[in-house]
Amino acid sequence: MHVQGGPTHVRQAKRCAPVLTLRRASLFVLAASLAACAPAEPPAYQHRFENAEHWSKEFDDPSRDSWQQPDQVIAAMHIQAGMTVADVGAGTGYFEPYLSRAVGEAGHVLALDLEPDMVRHLGERAEREKLANVVAKQVAADDPGLEPKSVDRILIVDTWHHIANRSLYTARLKAALRPFGQVVVVDFRREAHRGPPPEHRIAPDEVVRELEGGGLDARVVDAGLPEQYVVIGTTS
Ligand SMILES: C[S@@+](CC[C@H](N)C(=O)[O-])C[C@H]1O[C@@H](n2cnc3c(N)ncnc32)[C@H](O)[C@@H]1O
Repeated sequence: MHVQGGPTHVRQAKRCAPVLTLRRASLFVLAASLAACAPAEPPAYQHRFENAEHWSKEFDDPSRDSWQQPDQVIAAMHIQAGMTVADVGAGTGYFEPYLSRAVGEAGHVLALDLEPDMVRHLGERAEREKLANVVAKQVAADDPGLEPKSVDRILIVDTWHHIANRSLYTARLKAALRPFGQVVVVDFRREAHRGPPPEHRIAPDEVVRELEGGGLDARVVDAGLPEQYVVIGTTS
């Protein structure tokens, strides 16, 4: 996969790493530190997703499989049976059957979204499709609402560009990860034929910088997706 841009921003984020390791630092201090240390993040693309049935026509269109390649995404996540996986911005639940199958009966899938109608739809879909290990939950825009050290993988598909203050948000994701946990961000390349307006697309090296700004080690991985990049952030 072609990675845009150079490592300059990553180095800038790393210079601030000692600040981020202060265990007792409040999120307020963390936010102030991040603002002082890091270059400004591109703003979030503010967009409502209010009517789940409407969005399902697009998100669950069977033609999506050909470019989304969900099995490739699941393979890149290296999920093991029994893991707990959170899907942040789960939408209409496109990925839930795949995640449910990957974690198995002993595992758990937390399908999280800020839109109440998406959460209703996610819960009904899990029941209808007998995805017994999937739980839908509404979350705040600035907080995934996850318990500390409670999840093994966090999947964020086509949603990263909707989140504001992403380095600070990453710090919250990091706190929720168990040892060897991963955040997996999948989003549209600048040159993709679909996705948000080009001015709202975030380059993969910027995602790396934002994940590192929140305290994760991050890298772009080649998952072979035709329209999207995959960035994985891990606890060190
Ligand atoms: C473009 S949809 C992607 C849905 C799903 N991930 C998929 O691939 O089909 C973005 C979803 O993220 C949700 N969302 C946006 N910002 C969010 C945030 N800060 N926290 C949780 N969900 C968010 C929206 O409500 C919407 O359902």
